Amino acid sequence: MLFKQQAWLRQKLLVLGSLAVGSLLYLVARVGSLDRLQPICPIEGRFGGTRSQAEFPLRALQFKRGLLHEFRKGNASKEQVRLHDLVQQLPKAIIIGVRKGGTRALLEMLNLHPAVVKASQEIHFFDNDENYAKGIEWYRKKMPFSYPQQITIEKSPAYFITEEVPERIYKMNSSIKLLIIVREPTTRAISDYTQVLEGKERKNKTYYKFEKLAIDPNTCEVNTKYKAVRTSIYTKHLERWLKYFPIEQFHVVDGDRLITEPLPELQLVEKFLNLPPRISQYNLYFNATRGFYCLRFNIIFNKCLAGSKGRIHPEVDPSVITKLRKFFHPFNQKFYQITGRTLNWP
Ligand code: A3P
Repeated sequence: MLFKQQAWLRQKLLVLGSLAVGSLLYLVARVGSLDRLQPICPIEGRFGGTRSQAEFPLRALQFKRGLLHEFRKGNASKEQVRLHDLVQQLPKAIIIGVRKGGTRALLEMLNLHPAVVKASQEIHFFDNDENYAKGIEWYRKKMPFSYPQQITIEKSPAYFITEEVPERIYKMNSSIKLLIIVREPTTRAISDYTQVLEGKERKNKTYYKFEKLAIDPNTCEVNTKYKAVRTSIYTKHLERWLKYFPIEQFHVVDGDRLITEPLPELQLVEKFLNLPPRISQYNLYFNATRGFYCLRFNIIFNKCLAGSKGRIHPEVDPSVITKLRKFFHPFNQKFYQITGRTLNWP
């Protein structure tokens, strides 16, 4: 009898224990999905902007982000949105390019910061005449919900090379912060080519070899009419931007270093955006299968970028690479001189 009772008690305790562990795991997952579980430290830095923003504790922002997450999942009502002051804000910073520089990785990694909210899609407001004609309210409505103390960031890499964009952004906000992520120009051009090539192959179309596009067969010189080459002449594009914005409003991110050593690059961006340092080594881990750093939000949730990021490049004739590097060299020197950031490009 006593033995039977003991067994019954043990069974009951086991059930209760499992329930407790289950609830704990659920709670961790829940909190995890709302926000990342990283140590919350006292504010060391300040947001740029108004006094109330500066005084807003990040701890509160981290918790409030939970509701934001719920709203995005469709679990929060309009009333909750109103009650919690959720707003769609125009971006305080834009990643203007460069295409294939690592713009997606940069945006996703910055979004690890509790005070940053990303616009997931490329909005193409300033470079697309049809979208631009829809007006600034259309653009604002495309922005994600955020708390007033957070900053919204969007990325549309075509902005960097499109003629009309600097003036249009200036008209929206002349003191906006502009992020440019660049890679060694020849590598970037090959990455650009690889993306187009993949698109052609998907449609069962044939395409020229990179060498044929990058080098003019008549002159044997670099073909500056080829878009992938032109985009990599960073200084030419930047000069157009400088007619509207002082250089202090730009920050250059080293896209090659963001691949191999993302944290120091992200810390420089945090500083540029006047954000307290919150992205840590904990948020980034190297995934050997992907060959890239991936993002860790908390003990449960992590993600790598899509497979379309980090394609295998085709092999390119070394003499063409040398020719291109020689061609880009003087433009690179000018770019370093203007931006004050020297990169280790050949
Ligand atoms: P490749 O596909 O040539 O390797 P963008 O987002 O501007 O299109 O840039 C794509 C590039 O981001 C990729 O180019 C890849 O090298 C780079 N990148 C940087 N960090 C990455 C990361 N953590 N995961 C995947 N790709 C990353």
